[in-house]
Amino acid sequence: MAIYKTTAEALRHVREPDVEHGGDIGAARTMFPGAPEPFVDLSTGINPNPYPLPALSGDVFARLPEAAPLANLARVAAAAYGAPSAEHVVAAPGTQILLPVIAGLEPPGRAAVLAPTYAEHARAARLAGHRVTEVSDIAALADADLAILTNPNNPDGRLLANDELLALADKLAAHGGLLVVDEAFIDAGPAAAGLAGDVTRGGIVVLRSFGKFFGLAGLRLGFAVAAPALAERIAALLGPWAVSGPALAIGTQALADRAWIEATRLRLAQAANRLDAILAASGLDIAGGTSLFRLVRSRAANELFHHLGRAGIFVRRFPDRPQWLRFGLPAAEPDWQRLTQAMAAFAGHQPIANLKASADRKSESTAMAAPPSMSFDDAFRARLRDLLAWRRDVRRFLRDPLPAGTLEQLLECACLAPSVGLSQPWRFVIVDDSARRAAIRGNFAGCNAQALAAQSHERASLYAKLKLAGLEEAPAHFAVFADRTTEQGHGLGRRTMPEMIDYSAVTAVHTIWLAARAQGIGMGWVSILDPTAVTEILDVPQDWKFIGYFCLGYPQTDDRVPELERAGWEYRRLPPSTVIRR
Ligand SMILES: Cc1cc2nc3c(=O)[nH]c(=O)nc-3n(C[C@H](O)[C@H](O)[C@H](O)COP(=O)(O)O)c2cc1C
Repeated sequence: MAIYKTTAEALRHVREPDVEHGGDIGAARTMFPGAPEPFVDLSTGINPNPYPLPALSGDVFARLPEAAPLANLARVAAAAYGAPSAEHVVAAPGTQILLPVIAGLEPPGRAAVLAPTYAEHARAARLAGHRVTEVSDIAALADADLAILTNPNNPDGRLLANDELLALADKLAAHGGLLVVDEAFIDAGPAAAGLAGDVTRGGIVVLRSFGKFFGLAGLRLGFAVAAPALAERIAALLGPWAVSGPALAIGTQALADRAWIEATRLRLAQAANRLDAILAASGLDIAGGTSLFRLVRSRAANELFHHLGRAGIFVRRFPDRPQWLRFGLPAAEPDWQRLTQAMAAFAGHQPIANLKASADRKSESTAMAAPPSMSFDDAFRARLRDLLAWRRDVRRFLRDPLPAGTLEQLLECACLAPSVGLSQPWRFVIVDDSARRAAIRGNFAGCNAQALAAQSHERASLYAKLKLAGLEEAPAHFAVFADRTTEQGHGLGRRTMPEMIDYSAVTAVHTIWLAARAQGIGMGWVSILDPTAVTEILDVPQDWKFIGYFCLGYPQTDDRVPELERAGWEYRRLPPSTVIRR
C-alpha cells in the first residue's frame, strides 16, 4: 500500500475526486422538499425485493463469528459463483472495502480503469498510491500494473466476454500486472458469465457483491475470488471477524437457495422489461443496463431528473454525463404506477426531439461545458440594445396561445441566470389550473382596490385608469418563488446577506423577460398580490419566498416607451440621475 507522509496527504487522496452515489434519499429530500413521500428510490441498482430474512439466533449477534461458519460461507459462495474451491473465496463486509485493499496488492504504479464506471474504483486505486488513468478501450488496459473493469458495467451494462477478459489477464500477467473484474451486477444474468471459475491461473481478482442481487445492501457482504495465494493475502489484510455473524448466517442461507436465485433472475428480467416499456413509451432511448437498472441518454435528462424528483421519484444522475440517467427497479405496484404517471406527464410536455440523446457523442460529455470561446459582433450588440430598449412590461395581451413548449424553453433559459453561489434558488410554478388562476385574479382585484384607496387625491383617478395586470387575457401564467432553504451553493455569498437568494431569483425573472421578448412574446410582472394568499393558492412550501406572478403572451402592441410613461404616471430617467461617484 502507498505510504503517505501526512494524514492530510492521505485524506486528499481519499476525498478527491468527490464521488456521488445513488441511494441518498436524504439528499433527495433536501433537493425536492415539496415532493410526495415516501420517495420511490430508483437511484440504485439494488434489487428492491430482498431475500426474505431468516430468524436468527441471538448468538450470531452476541458472539464473535467463528472460523467454521466463515469457511462454510466461503464453500457455499464458491459453489454459487463457480469458483474452484472455498480457498479461492474471501468474504468481506461488502466489496467496497475490498477496493483499496486489492489495489494495494500491486506496488504503486499505473492503474487503468475502463471508464465510465463505478467511480470508487479510480478513487481506491489513487488511495493505494497508483497513478490512475481512465480509458475507454479495453486494449488500453493491457500495459497497466493494475487494470480494473466492471462486468457487466455500471451504468451502461456493457458486457465483455470471458475470452476477451482472459486474453487481457494473460497480457497483464506477462508483465506482472493484475486484473480486477468487478462483477457486482452479474448475478442478475446472463447465467453463464463470470470469471470466478478462471482465477486459478493467477493475476485475476473477481469481486462479487451480495447486497445488490439479494437486495440486502445494508447487510454489507461481498467477496473477492482469486487464486489461493492471492486470496490469502486479501484475507490477511482484512483480518479476523471482518464479516458479521448476521451476514455469515444470512449470506450462507441465501447463496445456497438455488430456487430463490433462479426465480429472482426471472423476476428481475421481467421487471427490467417493464421498465424498458415505460421508458420507451415516453420516447426515451435506452442506452443499456442490466436486469437491475437501465441507463437512458436524453437531452432532457436534467429536466427529467428534476421532474421525477418533484414527483418523489429519485433516479441516478451523473454530474459529468449530463445526458445520462440511471433507473433502478420500482419495488411494488404503487411505485410502478407513480413512475408510469410521472413519465407520461413528462413526455406530454416535451417535444420528442428533446427526449432523444444528442447525436454527437462527443458533445455529450461536454454538453454542460462552455464553448471554447464566444464573441459577439457589433451587429449583435446593436440588436441586444434594441432588445433591452424594446422589452416592455406587457399588460395588454392577445389571447392567442403560445406554441407548445415555449414556457418550458423560457424556463430553461432562466436557469442560465446568475445566482449567489450558483444556488439557483428560483422555483417556477406553471399555473394552468383555471380555479387557481381565478383565485389569483380575485386576490389581485382585492389588493388593487386597496391600493387605489390608498392613493392620494390627485393620483387616484389616474391610478384607476391604469391597467396593472393582464391576468384575464394572457395565455400563460407562472409564479416565481425563491427557495431560501436550498443547500445548493453551500451557502456561498449569503451568510451576511441571506436576501441574496431572493435577488438571485429576480435575475431569472429578468432573463425570461428578455428571452421572451426576443421571440416577440411579452411578459407582465404582477406584484399587486398578497404573498401569503398566493403561496396558499398555489399550494407550495411555506418557506418559499414569493417573488412574483407573471403573465406571458403575445402583446397587443410594441412600444419603446413604458406603458406607465405613456399613461403619464412616471417617466424613465437617464443614468446621471441615478449615478454618483465616490
Ligand atoms: C418588481 C416589479 C414588479 C412589478 N409589478 C407590477 C405590477 O404589479 N403591475 C404592473 O402593471 N406592472 C408591474 N411592474 C412593471 C413595471 O411597472 C414596469 O416594469 C415599469 O413601468 C417600466 O416599464 P417597462 O418594464 O415596460 O420598461 C413591475 C415591475 C417590476 C420590476
